Amino acid sequence: MEKNRVTLEKRGTFALVCVDNPPVNAISRDVRAGLITVLRQIAVDPDIAAIILYCAGRTFIAGADIAEFASMQPLAADIHELFDLIENCGRPVVAALHGTALGGGLELALVCNFRVALRSARIGLPEVRLGLLPGGGGTQRLPRLAGAKTALKIILTGVQVPADKALALGIIDEVVDGDLLEAAIAYTERVLSAGCTLRRASALSVNPDSVSADLFKQARQALAQRPNGNPAPARIITCVEAAVTQPFEQGMATEQRLFAECLRSPASAALRHRFFAEREVTKIPGLVVNLPLRPIQRVGVVGAGTMGGGIAMNFVNAGIPVVIVEASQAALDRGLSIVRKNYEATAAKGRITGEQIKQYMGRLSGSLDYADLADCDLVIEAVFEDMELKKRVCAQLSKICKPGAIIASNTSTLDVDVLAEAYGRSANVLGMHFFSPANVMRLLEVVRGAKTAPDVLATVVKLARTIGKVPVVSGMCHGFIGNRMAESYLRESERLLLEGATPQQVDAAVQSLGMPMGPFRMLDMAGVDVVAKVALEQGKNGLLPLDPCYQAVVLKLMELGRYGQKSGRGFYRYEGRTPMADPIVGKICTELASRHGIAYRDDISAQEIIERCFYPLINEAAKILEEGIAYRPGDIDVVWINGYGFPDYLGGPLFWADTLGLANIAARIDHYAVQLGNAYGYWHRAALLMRLADQGRGFSDLTADELNHAHG
Ligand code: CAA
Ligand code: NAI
Repeated sequence: MEKNRVTLEKRGTFALVCVDNPPVNAISRDVRAGLITVLRQIAVDPDIAAIILYCAGRTFIAGADIAEFASMQPLAADIHELFDLIENCGRPVVAALHGTALGGGLELALVCNFRVALRSARIGLPEVRLGLLPGGGGTQRLPRLAGAKTALKIILTGVQVPADKALALGIIDEVVDGDLLEAAIAYTERVLSAGCTLRRASALSVNPDSVSADLFKQARQALAQRPNGNPAPARIITCVEAAVTQPFEQGMATEQRLFAECLRSPASAALRHRFFAEREVTKIPGLVVNLPLRPIQRVGVVGAGTMGGGIAMNFVNAGIPVVIVEASQAALDRGLSIVRKNYEATAAKGRITGEQIKQYMGRLSGSLDYADLADCDLVIEAVFEDMELKKRVCAQLSKICKPGAIIASNTSTLDVDVLAEAYGRSANVLGMHFFSPANVMRLLEVVRGAKTAPDVLATVVKLARTIGKVPVVSGMCHGFIGNRMAESYLRESERLLLEGATPQQVDAAVQSLGMPMGPFRMLDMAGVDVVAKVALEQGKNGLLPLDPCYQAVVLKLMELGRYGQKSGRGFYRYEGRTPMADPIVGKICTELASRHGIAYRDDISAQEIIERCFYPLINEAAKILEEGIAYRPGDIDVVWINGYGFPDYLGGPLFWADTLGLANIAARIDHYAVQLGNAYGYWHRAALLMRLADQGRGFSDLTADELNHAHG
């Protein structure tokens, strides 16, 4: 049933039209219908001299309702009917903007004759991030107001432009402070008395000074240098070019045609999936909504190494004071100086000021005394990956930390429940698995222990958003969600080397899928020694498969001191930071292969590499879902997009798997089980994968009930 989302109030001769569609006033079907009804009413009311369009709640219209795109045929015709009604209503229409006027919201504002914005407002056309282009005339009106070059930049990047800047660019007409509606009314009165009423963006032509001879050629060249699977950027260039070269109506037709192409593309469906999945991750099944959260006003970090310093920066940047506790003065000094250097490097790029460095460093203190953690609301330990050491640290914290303090471990492999026991008050303990560099990477795996209290989990998930992370909750298992899946990916890529593939060949195949770097460049960057030590540690705990070739190459390279980029040699040799093929690696692999009786092949195709690296990873993800380690397939996609650079235009490994068809993946897994033998169970299909494949369903077809069943 249609909901009334639009109200009309007559104040004197002004029609005040208000959109109220929480949470972000998306211009959904109901809103469009409401606006059309109200505008038709106004059209037959001769007393109305002007219209002011504004929104209730936290923001002006933040765009089309993205959920509607799943069924939209191409862009609903009623949006154009609405825009025509506004443009031809014969009275000045003023849009009053606050919050974020984005996408279809900004396009609607551009159809209005004037735009007044609160100083805190921001505008933008972020459709490109959804694999779309602005389909409501944005590619035609924005260049006419702001020039082709500026419009191209805004639409290609999807940035949010602050009101002051939008004013300077000619996109809005006035920036105001205080009461927006009153200011918009006053502005409209001035417009009427000045007699300049019906200015239309569509009637302007693009300022020729804003179109250099090679603007579009350069934009296309820049795109060709950074190819990706997003269909929108190339089409955006064509549309903005059309705004310059074609009359308005023809440019609109071009925009419509290319918008429809984008909307139909699998990449747009994948990017829209990412949009919603990244927002769903904070919804924790079974948790009481609006659970009171614990206040986090001061944070402690134990260990100022690679991770500790970066972790501290996140909180400092968000205005939360941090104390870092170290074991030695030298380590503390080193850690703090790296943090300072990081800020200085950011300042050198003009992204922060010297004053901000002072503020940030002022919020950060160092100490050698655990007692300084006594008043912290959250303490994150980031000491060496050593269970005994971490247990000692937790036991020490239990004597010092205040009763309600949350204790988090940044461990990448160890059992959070054992640490919780060492701390004592287990309900207050969980994992916060940051990714390196911790101040840059958006992903944060929040590891719930068996006894973690619901409000502790909810507090940390909320806090993660505050510090700009995308939190994904994981249950306890070795490697959590991300590294557990990465294990099968790395295992299989190594095995390909033993069969005769080269690191370059494997990396190139994986990169052709859109991964920013292949497994061997990644291992060289992370440190071959780091990965080898994890395998050795697992071996000591009896957690490795009985496979004698398991990580044989990594272990051999470590033995030879080939630690990767940091030692100048690993799977590659490095000239500066450039990886070069190193024939020694081929020899090492040939020797290992003959020792383990693995036959050489010269017929390994890029397709086989992709299947063998990614299908076991997808299979592992199915196990992660059936064990209830992850709440939803989308959570797994979010982990791999934000933590491992999986191409977002494929939507993450599980969204991609659905597009390939799970029955096809299951058949290929069976094929490799036969081709390679399945002595160690690497190619056993997950029960969930088998079930879905048999039923002709995908991961995205899993119902909430099926998923809830898995995590109890
Ligand atoms: N459609 C549907 N739902 C939307 C939405 C949209 N355009 N924008 C936000 N939402 C939903 C989110 O899914 C979220 O829902 P839940 O609370 O159920 O998870 C809720 O609104 C709040 O969103 P955020 O958590 O993102 O809130 P925020 O305050 O951090 O950010 C925002 C607000 C800046 C508006 C951000 O939501 C955003 O960037 N939205 C997308 C804007 C966009 O891409 N607009 C273009 C749409 S395409 C278009 O308009 C095509 C066209 O040409 C006509
Ligand atoms: P690191 O070796 O760079 O730093 C560890 C720091 O802990 C050192 O500065 C050391 O002096 C300090 N320390 C040791 N014992 C201490 C004690 N008793 N009290 C106070 N400080 C002490 O290690 P890194 O890489 O920062 O790793 C830390 C943790 O983060 C580990 O658990 C690791 O598994 C995890 N992690 C590491 C990632 C990485 O890429 N480096 C990624 C994600 C997690």
